[in-house]
Amino acid sequence: MISKRTIEKVFETALVEEVVGDFVQLKKSGSNYKGLSPFTEERTPSFMVSPAKQIWKDFSSGKGGTVITFLMEHEQYTYPEAIRYIANKYNIEVEETQRTPEQVSDDNEKESLFLVSEYAKNYFKKNLFSDEGKTVALSYLKERKFDDEVIGKFEIGYSVNNNNDFSKDALSAGYKINFLEKTGLTIVKDSSNIDRFRGRIIFPIKSMSGRILGFGGRILGSSKNIAKYINSPESLIYQKSKVLYGIYEGKQSIVKNDNCFLVEGYTDVIKMHQCGITNVVASSGTSLTENQIRLINRLTKNITVVFDGDAAGSRAALRGIDLILENGMNVKICNLPENDDPDSFVTNKKLREVESYFEENSKDFIVYKASLLLGNSENDPVKKAGVIRDMVESISKISDHIKREIYIKECSNIMDISEQVIYSTLAQIIKKDFNNKKKKPLKQFEPISIVKPDKKKNHVDKLYELERKIIEILLLYGNELIDFEEEVFSKNEDGISETKLSSRSLKVFEKVYMDLHVDEMEFSNQDFKNIYFNIIDCFNEYKEINIDKFINQLSEKQQLEVTNIVMDNEKYFLHDWKKNNIYPKTKQDTLSQFTVETILNLRCYLIDMKVNGFKDQSYENSINSNLLEEVVNYSNLKKLLSEKLNRVL
Ligand code: CTP
Ligand code: MN
Repeated sequence: MISKRTIEKVFETALVEEVVGDFVQLKKSGSNYKGLSPFTEERTPSFMVSPAKQIWKDFSSGKGGTVITFLMEHEQYTYPEAIRYIANKYNIEVEETQRTPEQVSDDNEKESLFLVSEYAKNYFKKNLFSDEGKTVALSYLKERKFDDEVIGKFEIGYSVNNNNDFSKDALSAGYKINFLEKTGLTIVKDSSNIDRFRGRIIFPIKSMSGRILGFGGRILGSSKNIAKYINSPESLIYQKSKVLYGIYEGKQSIVKNDNCFLVEGYTDVIKMHQCGITNVVASSGTSLTENQIRLINRLTKNITVVFDGDAAGSRAALRGIDLILENGMNVKICNLPENDDPDSFVTNKKLREVESYFEENSKDFIVYKASLLLGNSENDPVKKAGVIRDMVESISKISDHIKREIYIKECSNIMDISEQVIYSTLAQIIKKDFNNKKKKPLKQFEPISIVKPDKKKNHVDKLYELERKIIEILLLYGNELIDFEEEVFSKNEDGISETKLSSRSLKVFEKVYMDLHVDEMEFSNQDFKNIYFNIIDCFNEYKEINIDKFINQLSEKQQLEVTNIVMDNEKYFLHDWKKNNIYPKTKQDTLSQFTVETILNLRCYLIDMKVNGFKDQSYENSINSNLLEEVVNYSNLKKLLSEKLNRVL
């Protein structure tokens, strides 16, 4: 693990405008920077970075957060990867915390395997342009119409046709035989070293963050006697079921297009890039695994499976689709013309032509399944029944109720059968599934017809809104000094107590803090609760709100809440509205009333919840006099607050 000290150093040093600036062209705009959203295709800027607050917000996609979340969203880094990236950018030494000896040696070994692989990639790349490489390999690639740009982008290489050139060079460059063997680059046999890849085009396989995990090696031309492809063996860094070829080169485009094309081979991915379609990955000839689906799921919920012309109808392929559905993703299927794979299909075609082919031929899975399975046996009742069952089987994998409903309608239309029949078939399948799944706790399949009405929803929404409003008040106006009306209890000359209104100057955050603590009320939403305490701590320590002082201590979700609140307020500056004075500044007295009102409302609500909670409890525990007393107290308090609120309004 990276030490806390390193992480703190990273937070201290990194400037969001600098890090983001490496990926997005930013233009100064008032106290902020703005630019075109890197997450959508847009022409007018709605992406904003605040150097003062050290946060960013993309109004077109809704994403936002800190410098770390930017790297996680844009580069798909994990948290430690993002920290390491920044450390590297700012030359901060990464300090690791204590780990067990096994962890250390595992990590060291992994790191060594990465280093060897990186060396090999560069070695093969250079070889492609050696004399042998140019005459046999580069010319082969050119013959197959690969252009220089994609050869560079995918770092395609060549391994010369010799027994151990690579291994010898790697050893003399200081790489250990142990690691060369573990990556599979060198095969050790009877104490002699042989290169795994000989006389092959090399396709480096990369992780989401661009590290070299392994290689695919293709023979030049065709041969019946040797395998067309040889791949790296499984190792600590290369697990076939967890990688997708092209994920590094395609990730940003997948996010932007909110869709991922799934093809079979290395050459398919590369040629699609060459044609201009960059949101594409390959499962490398195997059927899709759960891990691979999860990898895509980090980028988009939509997959378009592109089948080779001859692969259509393969049952194995269809099974992969059910797996995608099970993971809550949307699947479309696109069939290529017979005898074409994506590589051959896009070669020599214009982007526009390919795009419109995909658009016109991408079918939703259910339509696809129907047409495929049914073939021309529409009049064969037995076959038709089987097809319907098969389709419903797929529908049962969808956990989203609304989506399911739509598919049931669709299925009923296509197969010309009543929805009722489909529902009952579905119920059977789900029941069966449910019984099977009970044994292993995986995904829950709720019976569809029982959608529980959520009685508490309105209540919770209202509460959420109120609590969010309090946070908003604190973040935007917490430091403003405002006159608040307060009730003062005093006795008049006759000794009768009366309440008077008097005015008192307070910082908004002090007012909120005091009022909320009068009846020891807490936020019910854990995220807001945590944000709230951070804000209060910040005010206490710095006497002003410095978001950058605490934002890194919040969870990702909490960071987004804070960013949304703060940056929504800045949105108006995007189009220079402020200059035209369209955006009115909140007036003192409005703010005072707004604050008081929100707090009172929240307190009423919280009390309501508390009272109701007590009622439930006392119902269960029969009579409990203490509880009853509390309920009475709270009820009185609520009455008092309601009266106050009416006065304010
Ligand atoms: N594959 C493999 N080993 C093989 C054959 C195929 O690992 N012996 C994997 C490769 O990742 C390959 C993918 O399956 O890219 C698809 O195989 P195929 O369609 O046969 O190859 P293409 O990608 O079309 O390659 P080419 O066009 O060069 O023949
Ligand atoms: Mn091919």
